[in-house]
Amino acid sequence: MSISQSTIEEIKNRVDIIDVIGDFVTLKRTGQHYKGKSPFSDEKTPSFIVFPRNQNFKDFSSGKQGDAISFIMEYDGLSYMEAIRYLGKKYGIEIEEEEHSPEAIQKQNERESLFIILNYAKDFYKNALVNTDEGKSIGLSYFKERGFTDETIEKFELGYSLEQWNALENDAVSNGYNPDLLEKAGLIIKKEDSQYDRFRGRVIFPIHSITGKAIAFGARILKNVKNQPKYLNSPETDVYSKSNVLYGLFQASRSIRQEDNCFLVEGYTDVISLHQNGVENVVSSSGTSLTENQIKLIHRHTENITVLFDGDAAGIRASLRGIDMILEQGMNVKAVVFPDGEDPDSYSRKLGSMGFKVFLKENAQDFIHFKTKLLLDGRENDPIKKADTITHIITSLAIIPDQVKRAVYIKETSNLLGLEEQLLYSQLNKIILNQRKEKQKEEFKAQPDLLVEEVEKTQQKESQESIVFQEREAIRILINYGFNQIENEYKLVDHYLEELDPIEFSNPIYNTILQVFKEEIRNGKVVDADYFKMYKDPEIRNEVLNLISDRHEVSENWERYRIFVPKEQDVLTNSVYSNILRIKFHKIKKLISLNLQELKKETDPDKQTDLQKINKELKKAEAAFSNPLGIVVS
Ligand code: UTP
Ligand code: MN
Repeated sequence: MSISQSTIEEIKNRVDIIDVIGDFVTLKRTGQHYKGKSPFSDEKTPSFIVFPRNQNFKDFSSGKQGDAISFIMEYDGLSYMEAIRYLGKKYGIEIEEEEHSPEAIQKQNERESLFIILNYAKDFYKNALVNTDEGKSIGLSYFKERGFTDETIEKFELGYSLEQWNALENDAVSNGYNPDLLEKAGLIIKKEDSQYDRFRGRVIFPIHSITGKAIAFGARILKNVKNQPKYLNSPETDVYSKSNVLYGLFQASRSIRQEDNCFLVEGYTDVISLHQNGVENVVSSSGTSLTENQIKLIHRHTENITVLFDGDAAGIRASLRGIDMILEQGMNVKAVVFPDGEDPDSYSRKLGSMGFKVFLKENAQDFIHFKTKLLLDGRENDPIKKADTITHIITSLAIIPDQVKRAVYIKETSNLLGLEEQLLYSQLNKIILNQRKEKQKEEFKAQPDLLVEEVEKTQQKESQESIVFQEREAIRILINYGFNQIENEYKLVDHYLEELDPIEFSNPIYNTILQVFKEEIRNGKVVDADYFKMYKDPEIRNEVLNLISDRHEVSENWERYRIFVPKEQDVLTNSVYSNILRIKFHKIKKLISLNLQELKKETDPDKQTDLQKINKELKKAEAAFSNPLGIVVS
């Protein structure tokens, strides 16, 4: 089976790369091109660029590049022909097939054959649901009973598998499909002296890939039969890996981006019921506990996840670990708890579309808040259990990558627990330190013959990276808030320049900007974002622009979700304090290492003593800076 050249030409002419990629990546226009976060790696700053003019994309973080067709191939692991087929479907272009014989099918590579056979099976089940007596009286009437409309049934391509041992196999073979492939696709089970269809007498929920191909099935039994599981699922196959797929993501992705939030539910029926009730930004990990890759799939579309919890406290406690992984990826998490005995499926049907949306809105609470209350419930008066709870909560806080977010949570948690913020901070720092040590140990174990020299090199590189990070932070604060007054005439920028004098920054761009501040402040000028908009050097101009937009994006999200209510302005004093401290701390560390190098070379004993004295003083200063930062100096 192959696609005619004229069809390929037509598709190539019709596709618009912005439109194609825009289905999967949130793109923002910047000048001539579009920018977004790389779908091929896990990055914070967008480095994925799409050029409408030559219809190409380039991903600076993974190095991948190409056109719309190669994007689809990369993104969903498709062959060239499958990508063409996907685009044809998207643009409503009829695909002209040149050959369609069973022999030709077998010639295709195996993955493609699996997709084809899975698609065939999906159609077979769909057809059985609406065009056979058994399907109609058992399957369809069950779906109707659950309140699914025809439209919903079609949207999720629901089906029915007949109560026979070989219904699918016989039909497939008579249509020229290879039984070996049926087995490889997980559709039939082969035993020594018999083989039979995996799904029999069950309603079928196809599981779709991100571009909408059926890659596996979930199947629910309707009768009450002993020793039969309620749900059966496809096994792992060459095209289906459970932990990398989310049920409903294909149907939800557009809405997730529109709503900038993704609801996470337990299973197939919850996803479908929510769609029925007008909530389309919903996915499920279907039966398994949430994996890191599944979270990444959601993270490509939004920063926000709302987990819908049903069941008792014990069940919820068991799933908390999965949620911690979401925090770990820097996403914002909210939780909604359902009344006893209700799940999203039953409750959305009970409340109806409007009522359910209101319920979600009014009951979404911040996850850390939710977890604190859940763990604390009934333990407030037991000091040992309370201490245990606190450790749990702080462990969740420790994995949040963003410092500002963490600070806000600490404040809230301290209120909830009735504990001093300072106490929480010291616990938090301990945990973070331990985690770092563990990580280093593991990395070391993973590469046992790593040379000491190389370890030192990586450490140097890491510390250089964190210096530049702090320099960037200083410049960002100066540009955005430099002219905020601290007291009377005294401005933030005066404070900075005084504190940092005579430090120079190691990064040339940030250093130039710092020098501009020094110089122009002396001339009595106002140096802010507007000042740099006119600046002659484009590199500097661009860097400043980046620093401004960063801040806006963050605060926009905050306001929209009212999660982390305080504005950066409110925590500015803290940020400034820790930023200046960190810069000084790094500077001292550098001086220490320079001093030690000199000491090594020095042969004159008197001078050696002098240098040792200096080293002692520097070490003291290092400790003075590191204590308030919660850094332990080795
Ligand atoms: P439910 O037991 O509520 O399934 O599990 P249901 O089909 O809604 O059944 P009733 O009508 O309430 O009795 C909720 C979800 O958990 C997953 C399915 O995705 C289901 O939609 N599940 C449940 C499984 O994967 N396997 C199971 O054995 C049970
Ligand atoms: Mn249910």
